[in-house]
Amino acid sequence: MRCHLADEQATARLANDFYAVLPADTAGWTLLLEGELGAGKSTFARALIRAMGHDGAVPSPTYTLVEPYDLPGRVIYHIDLYRVSDEEELRYLGWTELEDGFRLVEWPDRAPGLAASADLRLELAYDGQGREARFEGLSGRGRALVEELATQRDTELQD
Ligand SMILES: Nc1ncnc2c1ncn2[C@@H]1O[C@H](COP(=O)(O)OP(=O)(O)OP(=O)(O)O)[C@@H](O)[C@H]1O
Ligand SMILES: [Mg+2]
Repeated sequence: MRCHLADEQATARLANDFYAVLPADTAGWTLLLEGELGAGKSTFARALIRAMGHDGAVPSPTYTLVEPYDLPGRVIYHIDLYRVSDEEELRYLGWTELEDGFRLVEWPDRAPGLAASADLRLELAYDGQGREARFEGLSGRGRALVEELATQRDTELQD
């Protein structure tokens, strides 16, 4: 699914629409957030974490690597691998201990092995003053979700 995001609010709206099609139980799901510096990865992550019920700050996990959010009915791990240079470092991150939550990963290209077990990929790219978004399902459940998201956004456009 592709769409143009004219401004920051449009990126946040995409996150809200994505939240609306998410199942109640997202333990063990992984969404890869790709795009160059300033593409809007954190903007999307912040809006999604807020949509999931968090109403405080959403600090960047650049230095902590993982910021956990224990929300009613759902755990979220906001992960930023920007500073990870070696996939081995993921062992220190305790990746396998994060299976009880929804993993939102910025800079996943730092750990190519991750894509193999991920469900979804959102790629953000500069496009004029705004951004171009490409949402892709990587697993069966991920593909079904992206289809649902595309349908929901088509319906919104017609309203
Ligand atoms: N669709 C959009 N159109 C225009 N500007 C946007 C859009 N989405 C986000 N931005 C703006 O782009 C800037 C960078 O956003 P953000 O910090 O989310 O990027 P990032 O991909 O996380 O960057 P980094 O890789 O440096 O962490 C912010 O000022 C944000 O408001
Ligand atoms: Mg960021």
